[in-house]
Amino acid sequence: MKPLLDILLVDDDQVDCLAMSRFAETRCLPYRLHIASSLAEARSRLQTGRFDLAIIDHNLGDGTGLELLHELQDIPAIVLTGAGSEEMAVEALRLRAGDYLVKDPERRYLTLLQPTIERTVARRWTERELRKYTTALEREIAQRTLAEEQLQQHRAELAHVARLSTLGEMGTTLAHELNQPLCAISNYARGGLRRLQTGAGHEGSLHEALKQIALEAERAGGIVRRLRDFVRKRGPRKSTADINEIVQNVVQLVAFEASRRDIAIHLNLAEGLPGLLADSIQIEEVILNLLRNAFEAIEGAQVAQRQVRVVTERGGNEVRVAVHDSAAGLPADLGERIFEPFVTTKPDGLGVGLSISRSIIESHDGRLCPIPGSLGGAASQFTFRSRREARAHVA
Ligand SMILES: Nc1ncnc2c1ncn2[C@@H]1O[C@H](COP(=O)(O)OP(=O)(O)OP(=O)(O)O)[C@@H](O)[C@H]1O
Ligand SMILES: [Mg+2]
Repeated sequence: MKPLLDILLVDDDQVDCLAMSRFAETRCLPYRLHIASSLAEARSRLQTGRFDLAIIDHNLGDGTGLELLHELQDIPAIVLTGAGSEEMAVEALRLRAGDYLVKDPERRYLTLLQPTIERTVARRWTERELRKYTTALEREIAQRTLAEEQLQQHRAELAHVARLSTLGEMGTTLAHELNQPLCAISNYARGGLRRLQTGAGHEGSLHEALKQIALEAERAGGIVRRLRDFVRKRGPRKSTADINEIVQNVVQLVAFEASRRDIAIHLNLAEGLPGLLADSIQIEEVILNLLRNAFEAIEGAQVAQRQVRVVTERGGNEVRVAVHDSAAGLPADLGERIFEPFVTTKPDGLGVGLSISRSIIESHDGRLCPIPGSLGGAASQFTFRSRREARAHVA
């Protein structure tokens, strides 16, 4: 059996109301009609009752039925208009009435009553269901976006911590790098002072000393700036990048550490590589992680040959970057697990270097994986699409 519909009938014509009630009764239609003969009465009924549908006459003694459409909230409505008032009917539909019926003196419109009511109620039900699903879907999307943002944030925090720990370990390098320009500044300044005191200084020589002091100070500033950029917390920022330049920056950063450990770094950098759309600092971080792993592996393996090779090359639409070392190779028992966070075989390792590096490369639509090494030890390679390819992919 169909559920009984509570219908609010708003009409000041009592004969029409009676006709509609009779029609519903004699046909045994599943309707319970609640009659309001004015706008005011309809409003008060809406305050207290719950209705499945409203049928509203357009012309009421105290206003137009259209005024009520705004106040129905989620109740679907059918508007009754007189013959020849199609414009009003269109206006009613614009105001979100579900349908309209045109009253005629013979009340033939009553035969259309039931299908119109059923259609209007069914449409509203579908709308409601759709809205429910849309809301659920939107909530789900919002939750996923939030989770993704939190994951990104988490990765960024982890990367920052890893960078800070790298910086800590690079303390000796930093001190050495900064010491050179500072010594030079001190020497030029002392020389200038001595010349001034002995009266041997002429304008030309002092000018040269001051120029050198300025140059060395800029060099020291550059070192600090590079490190500050490297450690600073910041969101990803992609721009056109030259991979060989990135490799050379990192190699400069670790050059002192390599020589202290007696490790030779060889560069095989292909010429004429296409530009990349990449976040240079993040890519520096990946190469730094791979180089540090190589250094630590050589240290741990105590091999006679102490070498690392960085290779850049083109392969089809890709640019490839690989770091090879002459240590003992990757731990066979760990397999792919070395890319999981906190997996480490080192007493002081965090085990995050490779997992951060992989997520950085994946956020650049690339891949990071082990390849056969050319120096007897391990080798890791990452790939990128060239800038043009990356743009085409985004588009
Ligand atoms: N070049 C390599 N040769 C041999 N083993 C390696 C090499 N690179 C990585 N591994 C292995 O993979 C593990 C995980 O490396 P990962 O860089 O993620 O962490 P970690 O170096 O141990 O610590 P962290 O990088 O956080 O300081 C290492 O502990 C090591 O066992
Ligand atoms: Mg590491």
